[in-house]
Amino acid sequence: MTDHSTFVIFGATGDLTRRLLFPAIYRLYAQGEWAPTRIIAYAKEDWSASQFLTHVENNLKSFAPTFDANTWERLKASVTYRSGDLQAHDLKQLAPDITGPAVFYLALPPQLFAQAAKGLGEAGFNDQTNGWRRLVVEKPFGLDLESAQTLGNAIAAWWAEDQIFRIDHFLGKDTAQNVLVFRFVNRLLESVWNGAHIAQVQITYAETLGLEGRWQYYDKAGALRDMLQNHLLQLFALVAMEPPSGWAAEELHNHKAEVLRAVRALEADSAVAGQYGPGTTQGQAVPGYVQENGIAADSQTETYAALKLHVDNWRWHGVPFYLRSGKRLAADYAEIAIQLKPVPRHLFGAGLADWIVFRMKPDEAIDLVMFAKKPGLEMDTKQVILSAPYKKAGEHDYSAYEQLLLDVLSGEQSAFPRWDEVEQSWRIVDPILKAWANTPPEVYPAGSQGPRSQDRLMEAGLQWRPLP
Ligand code: BG6
Repeated sequence: MTDHSTFVIFGATGDLTRRLLFPAIYRLYAQGEWAPTRIIAYAKEDWSASQFLTHVENNLKSFAPTFDANTWERLKASVTYRSGDLQAHDLKQLAPDITGPAVFYLALPPQLFAQAAKGLGEAGFNDQTNGWRRLVVEKPFGLDLESAQTLGNAIAAWWAEDQIFRIDHFLGKDTAQNVLVFRFVNRLLESVWNGAHIAQVQITYAETLGLEGRWQYYDKAGALRDMLQNHLLQLFALVAMEPPSGWAAEELHNHKAEVLRAVRALEADSAVAGQYGPGTTQGQAVPGYVQENGIAADSQTETYAALKLHVDNWRWHGVPFYLRSGKRLAADYAEIAIQLKPVPRHLFGAGLADWIVFRMKPDEAIDLVMFAKKPGLEMDTKQVILSAPYKKAGEHDYSAYEQLLLDVLSGEQSAFPRWDEVEQSWRIVDPILKAWANTPPEVYPAGSQGPRSQDRLMEAGLQWRPLP
């Protein structure tokens, strides 16, 4: 689509822009999904335009697998580079170029979000008289409840909620969107989607990756802030929310916020922290977290976090929700797994219980794990998996960023958490952050299933699903 808005990137020389944002812009352009009229790249570095364009081109060659020089030649004609700081005085230099609708994308270090939102507001860029104005904010949105509230207020002083797009790239993933389609299109599910039939829900996001050079950010964040507060609690909300009466973003946000509000306040014993030690992942010996470049030998940052949640509403009464994510685990594997209760009379043996699994990684599939008769003369059972592998790894591959960029351009806010969702997510994890401030995490060997103490979260008769 040809688009007449101006797309302004703050932090244009930074890591996010080179690794994710520009490759997404490039691919959207190459596939004919978006023909930008004007992209203004803004950063503090005093670079020339050609220096910046060469920098982008070099990075596209690494991060956009389909890079084609002719396509880039055409796209780059719409890109200009400007340098300056984030004060209104400097930002005003952009005014002659931004007369109609515009996106302001803050690909900045988080400590600059508030300053940028204010500077842009003071310079008048939030004024929608001559076209819409949207602000895109990256994660992390705060470091705890209090700092998130301070940041939320600082942005809200200048920008209205319907102008703010907070990125949670998990909401651009197919599986996240498919939870909604699968739940709300297939009649079969709703009748069992409650505590009368569901025994437990496990949401797992396991990575074999380590720090990938991001130690400065990660060592201050840790797994709870990096993955659970945002991504996994968003997935939880999609699974647990009530059916909306329509697809309007407002409906979705209302229902997600409602279920997040219903999460019972966590006690310290509802959470487990781990930190990887030396070990082997994917056949390679890897150092432990505290041996990584940049990490202090006594760092207590958790690289693994697990939570047990209870939801105080009718639907989920008595159902534990387990959320866990970690680095340097046994596999790159992610799923949302919902276990049904066993039937009340065990005709064919005790404890046979079905699972509904939304697999996110490595491939995307929905599996119904059930039981059927074992072929043969005896009346015996065997587990069968009814699998809908609707997306193979590498197929229809677009990045979540591509999806989310198009949503920003069309003003579609459903895949962007609303402020009250973010605030509730911090409310949920805040007591655990405080409890962990002075507690060392359990060390687990790289390449393993995670810390042993995760098992203590499990209620009687339940077990973690092993990573493959
Ligand atoms: C990011 C986290 O938000 O999500 C990373 O900061 C993590 O630590 C990543 O690796 C996982 O998402 P994906 O889409 O790359 O699997």
